[in-house]
Amino acid sequence: MTSLTVNGTVRTSVSPPATPLLDVLRGEFGLTGTRFGCGEEQCGACLVLIDGAPAQACGREIATLEGRAVTTVEGLAGHGIIAALIAEQAGQCGYCLSGMAVAAAALLARNPTPGRAEIAQALDPQLCRCGAHPRILRAVERAARDMAAGGTGR
Ligand code: FES
Ligand code: FES
Repeated sequence: MTSLTVNGTVRTSVSPPATPLLDVLRGEFGLTGTRFGCGEEQCGACLVLIDGAPAQACGREIATLEGRAVTTVEGLAGHGIIAALIAEQAGQCGYCLSGMAVAAAALLARNPTPGRAEIAQALDPQLCRCGAHPRILRAVERAARDMAAGGTGR
């Protein structure tokens, strides 16, 4: 068994120790907002925060998460990046957006006023097969503006 905090709530996983965190989140905890893309730590679809730092959930064994704090895209409800992604209609299929939102939230937490180059660098590991990158970049810029004006940027 592994006990960890997920989106502020202590959860206990009964999955075998080598089970990927992604499988626990989706299959055991029912948090299906985190996506399975490549399963090989290449696409960023499964990005979550572990103790505030971005991490690919497909490559982390659940046993390594004992006592750690995980934030998934569900934990970003009310965060300015979510409203901004919607306002910019940033997705086509939307499959990449959970990972994009998590990556952007991590960036905005360490720098609330990132420039375009810094945003692009932070999102570079995140693949978008639809080519929606320009709108996603605009969404992160919008989130930064909105948050600076008093919006939610947890
Ligand atoms: S599914 Fe984890 S990086 Fe692609
Ligand atoms: S919107 Fe389809 S993969 Fe990004």
